[in-house]
Amino acid sequence: MNNTLTNKVAYITGGSKGIGFGIAQALVQQGMKVAISGRDLKAVQDAAAQLGNKNVLALQSDVRSAALERDAVQKSVDHFGSLDVVVANAGIGVFSPIDAMTEEDWHSTIDTNLTGVFNTVKAGIEPLKKSEGYIITIASLAGTNFFENGAAYNASKFGLVGFTQAIMLDLRKYGIKVSTIMPGSVATHFNNHTPSDADAWKIQPEDIGELVVDLLTMNPRTLPSKIEVRPSKPAKG
Ligand SMILES: NC(=O)c1ccc[n+]([C@@H]2O[C@H](COP(=O)([O-])OP(=O)(O)OC[C@H]3O[C@@H](n4cnc5c(N)ncnc54)[C@H](OP(=O)(O)O)[C@@H]3O)[C@@H](O)[C@H]2O)c1
Repeated sequence: MNNTLTNKVAYITGGSKGIGFGIAQALVQQGMKVAISGRDLKAVQDAAAQLGNKNVLALQSDVRSAALERDAVQKSVDHFGSLDVVVANAGIGVFSPIDAMTEEDWHSTIDTNLTGVFNTVKAGIEPLKKSEGYIITIASLAGTNFFENGAAYNASKFGLVGFTQAIMLDLRKYGIKVSTIMPGSVATHFNNHTPSDADAWKIQPEDIGELVVDLLTMNPRTLPSKIEVRPSKPAKG
């Protein structure tokens, strides 16, 4: 355990499963206090129970709503007394060729993956100024590599990488560090996937948790602002 993280407080969106849960688990193991949110309250509460409940706050929110995100961040600050880390992780994948893409596909993707991160970040800025804290966004390699059927997802993640880099420059004058992590394939429930043994070649959610701990414990002078991370071996087959 790294003592510098003990009793620090994190708010993580999409903490009920997948990458968000892996990050929550890693931070709890470091002695941090963690608030996790998601739309499905029962799923968030079950995740909190799996994390041991102690020092974990389960919150219902939808990142597409600025008001709900403000409320969730405020509840976290009220409960734990401060805020040191915001992880804007919640995201969805909707994949379709542009001629078949509906307005709903487009808006749900942009509203969650891009505007949702804006809402979370905005809600966290003032408390993070007080703690000289850290914002981490979870983008994707899809934020630099485009692919067929990816118009909405690529647009959201390219946008998110640009957004995160720009706010990194806006916020470092307040002592707030900002990084974006751009993962390749991670074994999660993303896009209705069910993780299985066949996913062993992929990055595991706890690996992203480990990476977040590395960032949070890096010396204060240094800021890896954009991190591409991919499986170290190709998929078999
Ligand atoms: N898995 C990959 O290979 C991969 C690779 C690169 C980047 N990513 C990114 O990693 C992030 C996490 O994805 P994941 O792979 O961990 O997927 P996941 O297993 O499906 O988990 C997604 C999480 O986000 C929450 N969420 C979704 N929409 C939300 C909303 N509107 N408001 C609040 N919470 C919401 C979900 O809970 P509810 O549904 O209950 O709200 C869940 O907790 C996403 O931004 C994704 O784009 C994933």
